[in-house]
Amino acid sequence: LAGEILDARSRPLHDLRISVTDRCNFRCVYCMPKEIFGRDFQFRERSELLSFEEIERLARISVSLGVTKLRLTGGEPLLRRGIVDLVAMLSNLRTPEGKRIDLAMTTNGSALPVLAPALKEAGLNRVTISLDSLDDEKFKAINDVNFPVSKVLEAIQVAREVGLGPVKINTVIKRGVNDSEILSLAEHFRGTGNILRFIEFMDVGTTNGWKLDEVLPSAEVVSMINERWALEPVTKTEPGETANRWRYKDGAGEIGVISSVTNAFCGNCSRARVSAEGQLYTCLFAGSGYDLRQLMRDGISDEDLAKALTGHWRKRDDNYSELRAALTPGNRKRIEMSYIGG
Ligand code: GTP
Ligand code: 5AD
Ligand code: SF4
Ligand code: SF4
Repeated sequence: LAGEILDARSRPLHDLRISVTDRCNFRCVYCMPKEIFGRDFQFRERSELLSFEEIERLARISVSLGVTKLRLTGGEPLLRRGIVDLVAMLSNLRTPEGKRIDLAMTTNGSALPVLAPALKEAGLNRVTISLDSLDDEKFKAINDVNFPVSKVLEAIQVAREVGLGPVKINTVIKRGVNDSEILSLAEHFRGTGNILRFIEFMDVGTTNGWKLDEVLPSAEVVSMINERWALEPVTKTEPGETANRWRYKDGAGEIGVISSVTNAFCGNCSRARVSAEGQLYTCLFAGSGYDLRQLMRDGISDEDLAKALTGHWRKRDDNYSELRAALTPGNRKRIEMSYIGG
């Protein structure tokens, strides 16, 4: 297929984030609070989820349309039964120029010590692991299932050892909850070759009780770290990248900050998302999706599916983070983080 497909704001489609399950074994307070995601919460039935064949098909067609990066998300993607087989299927995909695609996963790491070698073997390129604190008490209060820090550190270690690195470590900062952890996290990961990224707490979904005063602006994170270890900016490798990168002047590696609230990056956003049940979302903050599963189960051809995807992308004009100030939370329907995988 010739030429790039551009949306209504001239943004190409480069990344596809695929959620493979809406379930998670954690109950992070900012993502799946127990009051909502309790014992009687109805997760999607198995039959409602896209099959691996359906996922592979969507990924293959997206790659034929210009996608070069696939990211598996959840919930917690490693909870999906057979996930290693799916990775193997996706790692066989090639771009129209015959190149490999960048195949990544965002995970809480809990199953990585067991699965990392098989995932690497199946063709996964890299993992991003979430860790919000090095203090057990604080971390357990955030994940809300008593999960210890040591297990996540082990996951990071194993991922690195089997070649799934450099590992990116995602830290969501909530003011008053874990902003006290910034320097110790930075110190811990400096010089390890892994990349720590501080994420501004976002108003995803409608259940995490988001308040603007709990957002710690990335500029404060950067200045805090810079006072201790001098930093200098690094230019983004890709224009659509989520993180702004900073390098330690002493050569101890780099960090990133993801500032969706104070410094929106919609201008170059090249990401599409597919939920576990096959809804296509053109924005993390979208209120509704486009039902690809229905199209597939009704027997659409590859060619028509490619046309449907292209047509949908061309109409896309989402820029939620740039509008956030005007659209205060509560006045808009939004999908949940655990449903779409961030
Ligand atoms: P890399 O390819 O390693 O740069 O990954 P990534 O940053 O694209 O993905 P990751 O899953 O690690 O997400 C990091 C944080 O950025 C999470 O909090 C995501 O919810 C958030 N994020 C990812 N993509 C977008 C986006 O398009 N818009 C917004 N607002 N946030 C995003
Ligand atoms: N704001 C910012 N990041 C979030 N994540 C989950 N919920 C939020 C939120 N409300 C992060 C997770 C994970 C990534 C996919 O998104 O910690 O690292
Ligand atoms: Fe699970 Fe990740 Fe959400 Fe935490 S942030 S509840 S680990 S999906
Ligand atoms: Fe992309 Fe929507 Fe995030 Fe903006 S808010 S960067 S359009 S996903």
